[in-house]
Amino acid sequence: MARILLGVSGGIAAYKACEVCRLFVKAGHEVVPLVTPGAERFVTAETFRALARRPAGDDVYLHLTRADLLVVAPCTANTLAKLAHGLADNVLTEAALAHRGPVLVAPAMNPRMWSHPATRANAEALRARGIVLIGPDEGETAEGELGVGRMVEPDEIVRAAEELLAGNSKLKGKRVLVSAGGTREPIDTVRFVGNRSSGRMGVALAAEARRRGAHVTLLGANLAVPAPLGVELVETPTAADLEREAIERDADVVVMAAAVADYRPALALAGKRPKDTAAWTVELEPTTDVLATLGASKRPGQILVGFAADEGEPGLARAREKLGRKNADLFVYNDVGRADIGFDSAANEVTILTAGGERAVPKAPKDEIAAAILDEVEKLIH
Ligand SMILES: Cc1cc2nc3c(=O)[nH]c(=O)nc-3n(C[C@H](O)[C@H](O)[C@H](O)COP(=O)(O)O)c2cc1C
Repeated sequence: MARILLGVSGGIAAYKACEVCRLFVKAGHEVVPLVTPGAERFVTAETFRALARRPAGDDVYLHLTRADLLVVAPCTANTLAKLAHGLADNVLTEAALAHRGPVLVAPAMNPRMWSHPATRANAEALRARGIVLIGPDEGETAEGELGVGRMVEPDEIVRAAEELLAGNSKLKGKRVLVSAGGTREPIDTVRFVGNRSSGRMGVALAAEARRRGAHVTLLGANLAVPAPLGVELVETPTAADLEREAIERDADVVVMAAAVADYRPALALAGKRPKDTAAWTVELEPTTDVLATLGASKRPGQILVGFAADEGEPGLARAREKLGRKNADLFVYNDVGRADIGFDSAANEVTILTAGGERAVPKAPKDEIAAAILDEVEKLIH
């Protein structure tokens, strides 16, 4: 999931930008609409706020919003000229100067305006700066003229934006399977043996892989947070569910971030055991080690990532040993003995272990940790 600034300038194609906005939101991105006063003559900023599900309100620093990508669709001849020359006289052109990162521009104008030498020079100036121009297309314009000037269709703009977001990530187009959350093993129909995992780390990994252009399937075990949009969610509440679904799927990269129960009640009672004064002994049996199973059947080129939730230096040593024993390519160790990181926390601090060495990632929000982990995964992809 990425944050996208969607600049809309005052062309008749502004109504099509509503669809661009909707498709970005549907794909799981956060959209910040930047609507010029010229565009407001065609479509209101309110429409875009509603489509982008953004709260109403006046953010005076809206133009300084940091984002992964700026898309200008439609881009009028006027806005194109301003972008080429660095003018900053409305929220969109101000944001364009403040933005650092890729920019996608979809010009839309009358064919005579597009073919004017001034517009041609402005378009070239943008290209020379690394800005990606998409279109315009040839066809009949709204005013009934034939020629090159129509804005390319919204789905094409969204596809080009996804390409830019993925950049040259090695995960682009790869199938990534991520497990997240904590399994619950039934004792009877209402009680279970569970753990404190919220799923935040796995969900952050799924979102980051998606942002890098991967096709992501998320095996969610009782997630406390919503799955990112744009990823396929498969509910796997128990260790047996997770094992079945993980083994059934083929993926280029498998990231087992879920806290899968190591033990489950040997017998799950049918119905709810009524309360009485007698003690209740529940026998636990070991579950299948899903990671080791996947490691044993790993195909050449497949990358397997395991997580070790353990405590202190002895835990780190156990994670090193597991890396080889479970035939994983990368292990992420996090110290669950600390209250400020790990389980059910927004931050984490991990050590990434591979055969080639170790990388300590200092305490950071889980989305940054996810990016660091996937950077290391990408180094393993040939
Ligand atoms: C009905 C109508 C349609 C227009 N369509 C376009 C267009 O498609 N492309 C364009 O470059 N300008 C178009 N214009 C002119 C722009 O609205 C005008 O240049 C305006 O200043 C653009 O402001 P902005 O770039 O700040 O949004 C149109 C004007 C009108 C009245």
